[in-house]
Amino acid sequence: MTECHGLAGLVPTAVQTTGRVVEHEPMARDTMRLRIECPEIARQILPGQFFMVRDPRVTDPMLGRPFALLDTYDGPTGEPIGVEFGYIVVGKMTELMTTWRVGDECEIWGPLGNGFPVPKDFENLALVAGGIGQTPFLAVAKEALGHRSYGDPLRQLSNFPQSVSLSYGARSAEYLAGLNLFEIDGLDLEISTDDGSAGHRGFVTELLAARIAGESPPDAIYCCGPEPMMAAVARLAQEAGISCWLSLETPMACGFGICFSCVTRVRLDDGSWDYRRTCVEGPVFPAETLVL
Ligand SMILES: Cc1cc2nc3c(=O)[nH]c(=O)nc-3n(C[C@H](O)[C@H](O)[C@H](O)COP(=O)(O)OP(=O)(O)OC[C@H]3O[C@@H](n4cnc5c(N)ncnc54)[C@H](O)[C@@H]3O)c2cc1C
Ligand code: FES
Repeated sequence: MTECHGLAGLVPTAVQTTGRVVEHEPMARDTMRLRIECPEIARQILPGQFFMVRDPRVTDPMLGRPFALLDTYDGPTGEPIGVEFGYIVVGKMTELMTTWRVGDECEIWGPLGNGFPVPKDFENLALVAGGIGQTPFLAVAKEALGHRSYGDPLRQLSNFPQSVSLSYGARSAEYLAGLNLFEIDGLDLEISTDDGSAGHRGFVTELLAARIAGESPPDAIYCCGPEPMMAAVARLAQEAGISCWLSLETPMACGFGICFSCVTRVRLDDGSWDYRRTCVEGPVFPAETLVL
């Protein structure tokens, strides 16, 4: 059973609820996939949005942590009843999460943030991911390829891109997480690893550069990963005149606009810059607006 309360603040449709762990499986080295039953969030959430998760049994860590939607899953009636996300173990909360078992409860609030633009006006959509930054792109790819719809009411695309590719880079083969999930009809998946243990040896930006120079260059790029990699992707996109959106993974405390712990610098029309909250105005920003 889940409890649900309206979440006061700047995201009127978000809810804070008690979720229940229904699956918890390894995805790659130090990387796990969690499936949480939380129908109120699953019904609404869109690709590129996120939720905050915390453990109600502890006060350290006290604050929740943000995780991107990997995908929703359906119950017996065909309605979305829960969310999945992938996480890499980097610190206190993610270490604690590795101890969660099926049946455990967690606090979860969302959907939060803006998500990626609706992928309906592009011919060739290129998704570019580094490290754990591939997680938002499962739902993005499924929607852009017409395999699944999200949101309440369900978002139906009027036009689909002619091609959708995912260029996914990781340190080495053992860190490539959830490759089987990305074996989707129509998705052009290419891999790079820093050490050459799988796919192209080198940076994922080299795969993107080759794609841009190829026969069907992208007219839109969605990117998520470490900031230096996203800055490099933004430069490539700008040089080629391609629209590009970056999803930031700024550390967050509240997730819904109150604490200002998540600010990032954005350019203003008059040439100056100002702060914007990644949790509310992001996490997805047009690349050219960011001061990286
Ligand atoms: C919108 C959004 C979506 C995200 N989606 C995912 C996801 O799908 N999967 C996933 O694994 N992670 C995701 N993250 C990052 C995730 O929130 C952090 O890895 C997590 O908060 C770490 O918590 P922790 O308590 O384990 O680590 P902490 O103990 O808080 O930190 C451990 C170390 O990691 C560093 N660190 C913590 N957070 C970040 C960060 N965001 N960027 C860089 N360094 C950091 C700290 O400085 C510290 O050195 C997302 C972040 C955002 C903002
Ligand atoms: S995390 Fe609190 S304002 Fe963004």
